[in-house]
Amino acid sequence: KESGYDAWLHYHRYCKAENLPAWCRVIVIQAADEVLQTAAAELQLGLTSMFGQQPKICTTPVSAPFITLGTFREHSLAAERFSAEEQAEVNAEGYRIRGIEVPEPAHSAFHSKADPQGSYVTVAGQTTKGVLYGVFHLLRYLQGGLDGKLKPATEESLQAPILDVLSNPANPIRMINHWDNMDGSVERGYAGASIFYDNNAFIPNMDRLRDYARLLASVGIQALSINNVNVHDVETKLITAAFLPDVAKVAAIFRAYGIQIYLCINYASPIELGGLITADPLDPGVAEWWQAKAREVYTAVPDLGGFVVKADSENRPGPFSYGRDHADGANMLADALRPYGGRVIWRCFVYDCKQDWRDRKTDRARAAFDHFQPLDGHFRENVILQIKNGPMDFQVREPVSPLFGALEATQVLLEFQITQEYTGQQRHLCYLVPQWKEVLDFDTYAQGKGSTVKRIVSGALYDKSASGSSRRKAGVHEGCGGFQEAQTPPLLKPANYGFAAVSNIGADANWTGHLLAQSNLYGYGRLAWDPELSADEIADEWVRLTFSGQETDDGRADLINSIKQMLLDSWNIYESYTAPLGVGWMVSPGHHYGPDVDGYEYSMWGTYHFADCQGIGVDRTIATGTGYAGQYFPPNADHYESIDTCPDELLLFFHHVPYTHTLHSGQTVIQHIYDTHFEGAERAARLKDTWISLREQLDETMYEQVLERLEHQADHAKEWRDRINTYFYRKSGFADQKNRPIY
Ligand code: GCU
Repeated sequence: KESGYDAWLHYHRYCKAENLPAWCRVIVIQAADEVLQTAAAELQLGLTSMFGQQPKICTTPVSAPFITLGTFREHSLAAERFSAEEQAEVNAEGYRIRGIEVPEPAHSAFHSKADPQGSYVTVAGQTTKGVLYGVFHLLRYLQGGLDGKLKPATEESLQAPILDVLSNPANPIRMINHWDNMDGSVERGYAGASIFYDNNAFIPNMDRLRDYARLLASVGIQALSINNVNVHDVETKLITAAFLPDVAKVAAIFRAYGIQIYLCINYASPIELGGLITADPLDPGVAEWWQAKAREVYTAVPDLGGFVVKADSENRPGPFSYGRDHADGANMLADALRPYGGRVIWRCFVYDCKQDWRDRKTDRARAAFDHFQPLDGHFRENVILQIKNGPMDFQVREPVSPLFGALEATQVLLEFQITQEYTGQQRHLCYLVPQWKEVLDFDTYAQGKGSTVKRIVSGALYDKSASGSSRRKAGVHEGCGGFQEAQTPPLLKPANYGFAAVSNIGADANWTGHLLAQSNLYGYGRLAWDPELSADEIADEWVRLTFSGQETDDGRADLINSIKQMLLDSWNIYESYTAPLGVGWMVSPGHHYGPDVDGYEYSMWGTYHFADCQGIGVDRTIATGTGYAGQYFPPNADHYESIDTCPDELLLFFHHVPYTHTLHSGQTVIQHIYDTHFEGAERAARLKDTWISLREQLDETMYEQVLERLEHQADHAKEWRDRINTYFYRKSGFADQKNRPIY
């Protein structure tokens, strides 16, 4: 396999076989379902690769030491290892790991309540999915020298493990959205062709999908939509006999890794597939058509997660054509899916994409809130609204969508974009976890202080289900049993909240094109599991796992810290040489790569900066602008409304100001633009220099791959710098105080 293919699962051999920890020689599992078999096989693979000796997998009694895997209910050993209270603290997809050293005489594992001799480790959960996630935690610990607290494992600690871990996913739904088309292209994909499709068919050899499932499950992803939200002609037929057998095959691959698949559907399917004359959600014939369709789809794939829907958005059909609202549209589909436990994930990316640029009253930023807030509480319980993190479209800097917190009686998913559409297209380095952290930590004040986005999207703030609140009291997060609901204890009713994000992978050998962009996929999964992890911790984990084995002994700390620092700086660097102070959009329509300062200025997409010879920015205040600032709860609304309290980085998103306006930083807007662009380009060049300094420690192919991208970034950052600076110099007439070259 080529460099980078195994990503963070490459399980570098770091221990001589004779040092193999005794407890790593045997894996004892309960009578296994498919997911538990996967867990055991993954553990076996990882241990074999790391220690050079293959552990046995047993379902029959053995003497300690060993690793045992199983659920509390079905595995006596797992049950014995944890008290009833300890078991109750684990949610449907969480796990406990405990490693114990027992000095006393041996007993067989299954036949006695007495402790077997030696050291052994138990990975246990309510469900086998939980156990699978626990296994990946254990493997992370062994490979990266990490436990939950990032303590490096020593050879000694491996011989006598004293692990004690409890981990519950904060978010019941942790989803990835693919924007893959069946012709093999990927909308906004920057890592090669689709791994699912080619030439209007599923790819015949699905081995790579299994490898992908491993990557996803290893970071806790449990839901996956497999086709583009823009559902074109061929993809419309995914829900027909033409493709359902293939969909079932794909579902089977991901099922083994605890991942449910979803399909994006075309809202006009009753017309396009069914020959009906309408797709009106209130038309009984349309509802019946969808009910029959759901029956057909669920006969082929009984555990399909459900449908993802982009309706009335960017020219896609939807209920508006029939004078209906989005609750009418979503509920009709939800009723069709309910008998099968299916969900409707309905996207809120609805705005007027045929706007007149002369019209300064219509504000695209307002659209999601204006459309969906009035519908709060009108949706069925198997409908989830998927909301992009910001009100526009995944720009490098946007405020948080004001819809978070404004929907009290509606389940929501937060949508991030892992693929770097507007953040350098995987040619520039841009580690997005720091950006996501800011979104998650944003306090909406919807229910007073502490109403953070992460608490809204996990269901902690508004989920009213009794079981949900009792668990919150216990300080334990809710989990989602998904298709394994049969195994889920009754108290753990699945909730429909969580994260979704647009995938950044493709058929490139290293999955993400830019090797370092793997950190975004990794980071997304880890954050969806635990939004409390810091960007630094996640970067540290990813670097250790991905580069372990490459470092020389004395270079290890240097390698880890240098790459980590490159990641941590990169979002800020990218922001500094691209569109300034929150305006966004200085890219070319179509491909969305920049720089193109006026690329969107006279377009119909509602995306403007309004720069003239005096100033720049969009007035979104209540007093004189579009009123968008008023969609926030106080005190955020007041902070954004006032030019004195609006944060610098969002100034031009909320206000139109003269170039001479002084920022909180003390700099004028125009000088800020010049300074950040000169500095940003220099810092981009330094990313490349850092990488070059690590050459000796890096695998050559990986080194070259990344170097090529960093060289492009350094050059392209200069192009951004010069175009932006020159544009504003020519518009404003203000010279750079430091007299640097502007053209
Ligand atoms: C962006 C992106 C489109 C995508 C859309 C969406 O506008 O450029 O390619 O279809 O978002 O999220 O639906």
